[in-house]
Amino acid sequence: MKFVVAIDGPAAAGKGTIAKAVAARFGFAHLDTGLLYRAVGKKALDRGHGMLDGGVAALIAGELTAADLEAEGLRGAMVTRAASKVAAIPEVRQALLDFQRRFAARAGGAVLDGRDIATVICPQADAKLFVIASDQTRARRRLSELLKRGEDVTFDQVLADLRSRDARDAGRDAAPMRQAEDSHLLDTTELAIDAAVDKATRIIEQALDRARKRISG
Ligand code: CDP
Repeated sequence: MKFVVAIDGPAAAGKGTIAKAVAARFGFAHLDTGLLYRAVGKKALDRGHGMLDGGVAALIAGELTAADLEAEGLRGAMVTRAASKVAAIPEVRQALLDFQRRFAARAGGAVLDGRDIATVICPQADAKLFVIASDQTRARRRLSELLKRGEDVTFDQVLADLRSRDARDAGRDAAPMRQAEDSHLLDTTELAIDAAVDKATRIIEQALDRARKRISG
């Protein structure tokens, strides 16, 4: 059975962790779509010796391979900023569209997390979640991830980076980040990860019931 779970939301709200956990729980495949933009950003930076060129980024997006998603350094600060910049280029988004839709269409279920999954990539998704958390909470979580990876950053830098990325992601013309009308809002500010995963699991179980009834009815 085809079954698509779309999980969107701003940076470091918990989308990735929730997506991974529910994919494992239900035996669905998981695609972190942010990695696609990060890989394009990294290759474009490498090719431009630190400078980003929109045309080059679009060509790179058209030639992206699975190996590019495994590259080192995709979560570093420079690449993160570059990802958000190349993600605002319509030709880049267009080049990555088919791959994401093919992934979603696989039999056996798929979870995709990103910014525009429920609105643009899979508007017919069976379950849609929009995951948010306060700016302070998100910055705290991201800071601890980055420190664990050995990056030299401060809370204020992380907070400023998140805010500027959110503003760019939500303000762009091409597939801006926004909650779809039929997305469930999941605020993880006061939730431990297990509780957030439980809530997401319940929403997905209800959607699975509906999908099964549709098939059998
Ligand atoms: O992990 P985090 O939420 O910080 O970022 P990510 O999901 O890896 O996404 C990195 C960047 O890619 C975002 O800031 C967006 O600009 C872009 N992105 C997007 O435009 N559309 C998506 N579906 C996923 C990511």
